[in-house]
Amino acid sequence: MPLDVVVVGKANMDYLVRGPRLPAPGQSVNGDAFQEAPGGKGANQAVGAARLGARVALVARVGKDARGAAVIEALRKEGIDVTHVREDPSAATGVALCQVGGSGEKQILSAAGANARLTAADVRASAALFEGARVVLCQLGVPLEAVSEAVRLGRAAGAIVVLDPGPPAPLPDELIAQLDLIRPNTSEAQILTGIRVRDRLSAREAAADLIRRGAKAAAVQAGEFGDLLAWPGHEVWLPRFEVKRVDATGAGDAFASAFAVALAEGKTLAEGGPFASAAAALATTVLGAQAALPTRAAVLELLLRR
Ligand code: RIB
Repeated sequence: MPLDVVVVGKANMDYLVRGPRLPAPGQSVNGDAFQEAPGGKGANQAVGAARLGARVALVARVGKDARGAAVIEALRKEGIDVTHVREDPSAATGVALCQVGGSGEKQILSAAGANARLTAADVRASAALFEGARVVLCQLGVPLEAVSEAVRLGRAAGAIVVLDPGPPAPLPDELIAQLDLIRPNTSEAQILTGIRVRDRLSAREAAADLIRRGAKAAAVQAGEFGDLLAWPGHEVWLPRFEVKRVDATGAGDAFASAFAVALAEGKTLAEGGPFASAAAALATTVLGAQAALPTRAAVLELLLRR
Protein backbone atom coordinates (compact mmCIF):
# COMPACT_ATOMS: atom_id res chain seq x y z
CA MET A 1 0.00 0.00 0.00
CA PRO A 2 1.60 3.33 -1.01
CA LEU A 3 2.36 5.83 1.71
CA ASP A 4 0.52 9.09 2.23
CA VAL A 5 3.56 10.97 3.52
CA VAL A 6 7.27 10.22 3.36
CA VAL A 7 9.23 12.43 5.76
CA VAL A 8 12.97 12.90 5.38
CA GLY A 9 14.56 14.73 8.30
CA LYS A 10 15.91 15.02 11.76
CA ALA A 11 15.24 12.82 14.79
CA ASN A 12 16.37 13.99 18.23
CA MET A 13 15.92 13.47 21.90
CA ASP A 14 14.57 16.73 23.36
CA TYR A 15 15.41 18.01 26.84
CA LEU A 16 12.94 20.74 27.65
CA VAL A 17 12.84 23.10 30.61
CA ARG A 18 10.05 25.59 31.19
CA GLY A 19 10.59 28.68 33.30
CA PRO A 20 9.01 32.06 34.00
CA ARG A 21 11.08 33.62 31.19
CA LEU A 22 13.82 32.72 28.75
CA PRO A 23 17.33 33.47 30.06
CA ALA A 24 19.16 36.35 28.39
CA PRO A 25 22.77 35.60 27.32
CA GLY A 26 24.86 35.07 30.45
CA GLN A 27 21.79 34.69 32.71
CA SER A 28 20.54 31.70 34.70
CA VAL A 29 16.82 31.26 35.35
CA ASN A 30 15.18 28.65 37.59
CA GLY A 31 12.65 26.60 35.68
CA ASP A 32 9.58 24.78 36.99
CA ALA A 33 9.10 21.83 34.60
CA PHE A 34 11.34 19.36 32.79
CA GLN A 35 10.51 16.97 29.98
CA GLU A 36 12.68 14.41 28.18
CA ALA A 37 11.03 13.16 25.00
CA PRO A 38 11.75 12.20 21.40
CA GLY A 39 11.73 15.19 19.05
CA GLY A 40 13.43 16.59 15.96
CA LYS A 41 11.54 18.26 13.15
CA GLY A 42 11.52 15.18 10.90
CA ALA A 43 10.36 12.79 13.60
CA ASN A 44 7.83 15.32 14.91
CA GLN A 45 6.34 15.85 11.47
CA ALA A 46 6.14 12.09 10.91
CA VAL A 47 4.30 11.73 14.23
CA GLY A 48 2.10 14.73 13.43
CA ALA A 49 1.01 13.20 10.13
CA ALA A 50 0.45 9.75 11.67
CA ARG A 51 -1.77 11.20 14.44
CA LEU A 52 -3.88 12.81 11.73
CA GLY A 53 -4.48 9.40 10.20
CA ALA A 54 -1.83 9.22 7.45
CA ARG A 55 0.32 6.24 6.49
CA VAL A 56 3.80 7.58 7.13
CA ALA A 57 7.47 6.60 6.82
CA LEU A 58 10.49 8.47 8.16
CA VAL A 59 13.96 8.46 6.60
CA ALA A 60 16.51 9.54 9.21
CA ARG A 61 19.64 8.62 11.15
CA VAL A 62 19.99 8.19 14.89
CA GLY A 63 22.93 6.90 16.91
CA LYS A 64 23.15 3.25 17.96
CA ASP A 65 22.52 4.26 21.54
CA ALA A 66 19.77 4.32 24.15
CA ARG A 67 18.40 7.66 22.93
CA GLY A 68 18.22 6.37 19.36
CA ALA A 69 16.40 3.21 20.48
CA ALA A 70 13.86 5.34 22.40
CA VAL A 71 13.33 7.60 19.39
CA ILE A 72 12.67 4.60 17.12
CA GLU A 73 10.38 2.95 19.65
CA ALA A 74 8.28 6.11 19.92
CA LEU A 75 7.94 6.27 16.13
CA ARG A 76 6.92 2.59 15.98
CA LYS A 77 4.25 3.16 18.61
CA GLU A 78 2.73 5.81 16.31
CA GLY A 79 2.56 3.24 13.49
CA ILE A 80 5.32 4.91 11.46
CA ASP A 81 7.44 2.86 9.05
CA VAL A 82 10.98 3.08 10.50
CA THR A 83 12.68 0.69 8.05
CA HIS A 84 14.87 3.57 6.90
CA VAL A 85 15.63 5.12 10.26
CA ARG A 86 19.23 3.99 10.33
CA GLU A 87 21.13 3.38 13.57
CA ASP A 88 24.62 4.81 13.04
CA PRO A 89 27.25 3.19 15.29
CA SER A 90 29.70 6.06 14.82
CA ALA A 91 27.57 9.00 15.93
CA ALA A 92 25.33 9.89 18.86
CA THR A 93 21.62 10.51 18.50
CA GLY A 94 20.93 14.22 18.01
CA VAL A 95 19.78 16.21 21.02
CA ALA A 96 17.92 19.48 21.42
CA LEU A 97 17.88 21.71 24.49
CA CYS A 98 14.52 23.44 24.41
CA GLN A 99 13.76 26.39 26.67
CA VAL A 100 10.21 27.61 27.10
CA GLY A 101 9.31 30.95 28.68
CA GLY A 102 6.24 32.07 30.58
CA SER A 103 4.22 33.09 27.52
CA GLY A 104 4.99 29.90 25.63
CA GLU A 105 7.86 31.45 23.68
CA LYS A 106 10.78 29.10 23.02
CA GLN A 107 14.37 28.85 21.97
CA ILE A 108 16.25 25.72 21.01
CA LEU A 109 19.92 24.81 20.89
CA SER A 110 20.67 21.44 19.31
CA ALA A 111 23.56 19.12 18.52
CA ALA A 112 22.95 17.31 15.24
CA GLY A 113 24.89 14.11 15.99
CA ALA A 114 23.81 11.36 13.59
CA ASN A 115 21.42 13.74 11.80
CA ALA A 116 24.45 15.41 10.18
CA ARG A 117 25.41 12.07 8.64
CA LEU A 118 22.22 11.45 6.68
CA THR A 119 23.35 11.17 3.05
CA ALA A 120 21.83 11.28 -0.41
CA ALA A 121 22.71 7.58 -0.61
CA ASP A 122 20.58 6.92 2.50
CA VAL A 123 17.67 8.63 0.79
CA ARG A 124 18.25 6.71 -2.46
CA ALA A 125 18.31 3.47 -0.47
CA SER A 126 14.77 4.31 0.66
CA ALA A 127 13.54 4.97 -2.92
CA ALA A 128 10.88 2.25 -2.67
CA LEU A 129 9.08 4.35 -0.03
CA PHE A 130 8.64 7.16 -2.54
CA GLU A 131 6.89 5.00 -5.16
CA GLY A 132 3.24 5.96 -5.14
CA ALA A 133 3.70 8.27 -2.12
CA ARG A 134 1.38 11.26 -2.20
CA VAL A 135 3.50 13.80 -0.32
CA VAL A 136 7.20 14.10 0.43
CA LEU A 137 7.86 16.33 3.44
CA CYS A 138 11.34 17.69 4.26
CA GLN A 139 13.01 20.19 6.57
CA LEU A 140 16.60 21.47 6.77
CA GLY A 141 17.79 19.67 9.93
CA VAL A 142 19.76 17.18 7.82
CA PRO A 143 22.38 17.86 5.12
CA LEU A 144 21.15 19.66 2.02
CA GLU A 145 22.31 16.81 -0.25
CA ALA A 146 19.84 14.48 1.52
CA VAL A 147 17.05 17.05 1.25
CA SER A 148 17.79 17.64 -2.44
CA GLU A 149 17.72 13.91 -3.13
CA ALA A 150 14.39 13.55 -1.32
CA VAL A 151 12.94 16.43 -3.34
CA ARG A 152 14.27 14.88 -6.58
CA LEU A 153 12.86 11.44 -5.74
CA GLY A 154 9.56 12.98 -4.70
CA ARG A 155 9.19 14.83 -7.98
CA ALA A 156 10.20 11.75 -9.98
CA ALA A 157 7.51 9.76 -8.16
CA GLY A 158 4.87 12.40 -8.90
CA ALA A 159 4.45 13.27 -5.23
CA ILE A 160 3.57 16.70 -3.85
CA VAL A 161 6.77 18.11 -2.35
CA VAL A 162 6.55 20.23 0.81
CA LEU A 163 9.50 21.91 2.56
CA ASP A 164 9.55 23.38 6.06
CA PRO A 165 12.83 25.33 5.70
CA GLY A 166 13.95 25.14 9.33
CA PRO A 167 16.43 25.54 10.86
CA PRO A 168 16.96 28.62 8.67
CA ALA A 169 19.44 28.29 5.79
CA PRO A 170 19.79 29.84 2.34
CA LEU A 171 18.60 27.60 -0.50
CA PRO A 172 19.46 27.41 -4.20
CA ASP A 173 16.74 28.51 -6.61
CA GLU A 174 16.89 25.09 -8.33
CA LEU A 175 15.62 23.50 -5.11
CA ILE A 176 12.95 26.13 -4.45
CA ALA A 177 11.69 25.67 -8.02
CA GLN A 178 10.86 22.02 -7.28
CA LEU A 179 8.63 22.72 -4.30
CA ASP A 180 4.87 22.58 -4.31
CA LEU A 181 4.73 24.33 -0.94
CA ILE A 182 7.32 26.06 1.24
CA ARG A 183 6.47 27.12 4.77
CA PRO A 184 8.97 29.56 6.30
CA ASN A 185 8.58 31.25 9.67
CA THR A 186 9.79 34.84 9.95
CA SER A 187 13.47 34.05 10.55
CA GLU A 188 13.51 31.43 7.80
CA ALA A 189 11.81 33.84 5.40
CA GLN A 190 14.47 36.45 6.13
CA ILE A 191 17.35 34.05 5.45
CA LEU A 192 15.68 32.75 2.28
CA THR A 193 14.57 36.07 0.81
CA GLY A 194 16.45 38.82 2.65
CA ILE A 195 13.05 40.30 3.58
CA ARG A 196 12.33 40.97 7.24
CA VAL A 197 8.73 39.86 7.72
CA ARG A 198 7.22 42.39 10.15
CA ASP A 199 3.77 43.04 8.72
CA ARG A 200 1.35 41.86 6.07
CA LEU A 201 3.07 43.72 3.27
CA SER A 202 6.51 42.24 3.95
CA ALA A 203 4.95 38.76 4.28
CA ARG A 204 3.47 39.26 0.80
CA GLU A 205 6.85 40.35 -0.53
CA ALA A 206 8.57 37.28 0.95
CA ALA A 207 5.91 34.94 -0.49
CA ALA A 208 6.15 36.66 -3.88
CA ASP A 209 9.93 36.25 -3.88
CA LEU A 210 9.66 32.50 -3.20
CA ILE A 211 6.98 32.09 -5.87
CA ARG A 212 9.03 34.12 -8.37
CA ARG A 213 11.88 31.68 -7.71
CA GLY A 214 9.62 28.79 -8.64
CA ALA A 215 7.84 27.56 -5.51
CA LYS A 216 4.24 26.78 -6.46
CA ALA A 217 2.93 28.09 -3.14
CA ALA A 218 4.27 29.70 0.03
CA ALA A 219 2.81 29.77 3.53
CA VAL A 220 4.66 32.56 5.33
CA GLN A 221 4.34 33.00 9.07
CA ALA A 222 4.02 36.69 9.83
CA GLY A 223 4.09 36.65 13.63
CA GLU A 224 1.19 38.55 15.20
CA PHE A 225 -0.21 39.29 11.73
CA GLY A 226 -0.98 35.62 11.13
CA ASP A 227 -0.11 33.22 8.34
CA LEU A 228 -0.18 34.17 4.70
CA LEU A 229 -0.85 31.42 2.19
CA ALA A 230 -0.07 32.57 -1.35
CA TRP A 231 0.09 31.00 -4.76
CA PRO A 232 0.10 32.67 -8.18
CA GLY A 233 -2.88 35.01 -8.35
CA HIS A 234 -4.16 34.04 -4.88
CA GLU A 235 -3.70 35.16 -1.31
CA VAL A 236 -5.37 33.76 1.81
CA TRP A 237 -4.77 34.87 5.41
CA LEU A 238 -5.24 31.75 7.47
CA PRO A 239 -7.64 31.75 10.40
CA ARG A 240 -6.30 32.23 13.90
CA PHE A 241 -7.64 30.09 16.70
CA GLU A 242 -8.04 31.30 20.26
CA VAL A 243 -6.30 28.76 22.49
CA LYS A 244 -4.46 28.88 25.79
CA ARG A 245 -0.87 28.88 24.62
CA VAL A 246 1.67 27.20 26.91
CA ASP A 247 4.53 26.21 24.59
CA ALA A 248 5.26 26.99 20.95
CA THR A 249 7.68 24.04 20.59
CA GLY A 250 6.48 21.78 17.77
CA ALA A 251 3.76 24.14 16.52
CA GLY A 252 5.58 24.57 13.20
CA ASP A 253 5.85 20.80 12.92
CA ALA A 254 2.13 20.43 13.55
CA PHE A 255 1.43 23.00 10.81
CA ALA A 256 3.70 21.33 8.22
CA SER A 257 2.50 17.80 8.92
CA ALA A 258 -1.18 18.75 8.91
CA PHE A 259 -0.77 20.62 5.62
CA ALA A 260 1.03 17.58 4.18
CA VAL A 261 -1.80 15.28 5.28
CA ALA A 262 -4.45 17.58 3.78
CA LEU A 263 -2.61 17.67 0.45
CA ALA A 264 -2.13 13.89 0.56
CA GLU A 265 -5.91 13.58 0.91
CA GLY A 266 -6.39 15.64 -2.24
CA LYS A 267 -7.49 18.81 -0.46
CA THR A 268 -6.75 22.16 -2.08
CA LEU A 269 -4.28 24.69 -0.67
CA ALA A 270 -7.20 26.81 0.54
CA GLU A 271 -8.65 23.79 2.38
CA GLY A 272 -5.30 22.61 3.76
CA GLY A 273 -4.34 25.98 5.27
CA PRO A 274 -7.03 26.15 7.99
CA PHE A 275 -6.48 22.47 8.86
CA ALA A 276 -2.77 23.23 9.34
CA SER A 277 -3.48 26.38 11.37
CA ALA A 278 -5.81 24.49 13.69
CA ALA A 279 -3.23 21.74 14.24
CA ALA A 280 -0.53 24.35 15.00
CA ALA A 281 -2.79 26.18 17.46
CA LEU A 282 -3.54 22.95 19.34
CA ALA A 283 0.16 22.11 19.47
CA THR A 284 0.80 25.27 21.51
CA THR A 285 -1.61 24.16 24.25
CA VAL A 286 0.55 21.29 25.58
CA LEU A 287 4.15 21.32 26.81
CA GLY A 288 6.66 19.65 24.47
CA ALA A 289 6.90 18.84 20.79
CA GLN A 290 5.67 15.30 20.09
CA ALA A 291 3.51 15.28 23.22
CA ALA A 292 1.61 18.26 21.85
CA LEU A 293 0.88 17.05 18.31
CA PRO A 294 -2.91 16.77 18.00
CA THR A 295 -5.14 13.96 16.83
CA ARG A 296 -7.40 14.32 13.83
CA ALA A 297 -10.48 14.43 16.05
CA ALA A 298 -9.06 17.36 18.03
CA VAL A 299 -8.21 19.32 14.87
CA LEU A 300 -11.66 18.75 13.36
CA GLU A 301 -13.31 19.79 16.61
CA LEU A 302 -11.35 23.04 16.75
CA LEU A 303 -12.22 23.77 13.13
CA LEU A 304 -15.92 23.25 13.90
CA ARG A 305 -15.75 25.58 16.92
CA ARG A 306 -14.57 28.46 14.73
O1 RIB B 1 10.49 21.89 15.88
C1 RIB B 1 10.77 21.47 17.20
C2 RIB B 1 11.99 20.60 17.20
O2 RIB B 1 13.11 21.37 16.84
C3 RIB B 1 12.31 19.99 18.55
O3 RIB B 1 11.64 18.77 18.74
C4 RIB B 1 13.81 19.90 18.53
O4 RIB B 1 14.28 18.60 18.46
C5 RIB B 1 14.28 20.75 17.36
O5 RIB B 1 14.83 20.03 16.32
